Amino acid sequence: MAQVGLFYGTDTGNTERVADMIKDKIGADKVDVYDIASASAADFAKYDKIILGQPTWYYGELQSSWDDFWDDFKSVDFTNKQVACFGLGDQADYAEYFLDAMGLMHDVALENGSIPVGYWSTDGYQFDESKAVTEDGEFFVGLAIDEDQQPEMTAERVDQWVDQIKEEMEF
Ligand SMILES: Cc1cc2nc3c(=O)[nH]c(=O)nc-3n(C[C@H](O)[C@H](O)[C@H](O)COP(=O)(O)O)c2cc1C
Repeated sequence: MAQVGLFYGTDTGNTERVADMIKDKIGADKVDVYDIASASAADFAKYDKIILGQPTWYYGELQSSWDDFWDDFKSVDFTNKQVACFGLGDQADYAEYFLDAMGLMHDVALENGSIPVGYWSTDGYQFDESKAVTEDGEFFVGLAIDEDQQPEMTAERVDQWVDQIKEEMEF
């Protein structure tokens, strides 16, 4: 078993692609990747270092397989687990709901005891509202990826963020 568990959900494949990029950058031997559509709450118990990835759909809603898993997710005990989130969204077409689902996911993990890592500057993004930002608006609560408006920035963002969480999580 690897040190890190990565759990993602996707409707149209973008989040899966970013999950693969993260896995490749971390090193495939160090991370186990789960599609949340076929994961169980018990899978989370295996790891102290966890990465969670989710796009936002339909005006601030959870991605469909995360939505199906949500009650189980709320039952996971994250005490002493470091949790890094990443989210996908569209800052122009959904500027009032940018990355909301990442915020909801982060908040459940935090309420259930997680040690959050991987916060990410809001510099370089333009949006109106998001449930995925810190109170001062300076950070997203995880890596923010926009494959619709800024796809050319994704590779560099993933690279930088993985370097950051590698230090924070010590893997
Ligand atoms: C109908 C529709 C609704 C969307 N709603 C939101 C939204 O509320 N907030 C947001 O940030 N992005 C929204 N998006 C953008 C998606 O999150 C984005 O395209 C993402 O990359 C999709 O990821 P996936 O391919 O892993 O499902 C929406 C996209 C579509 C087509």
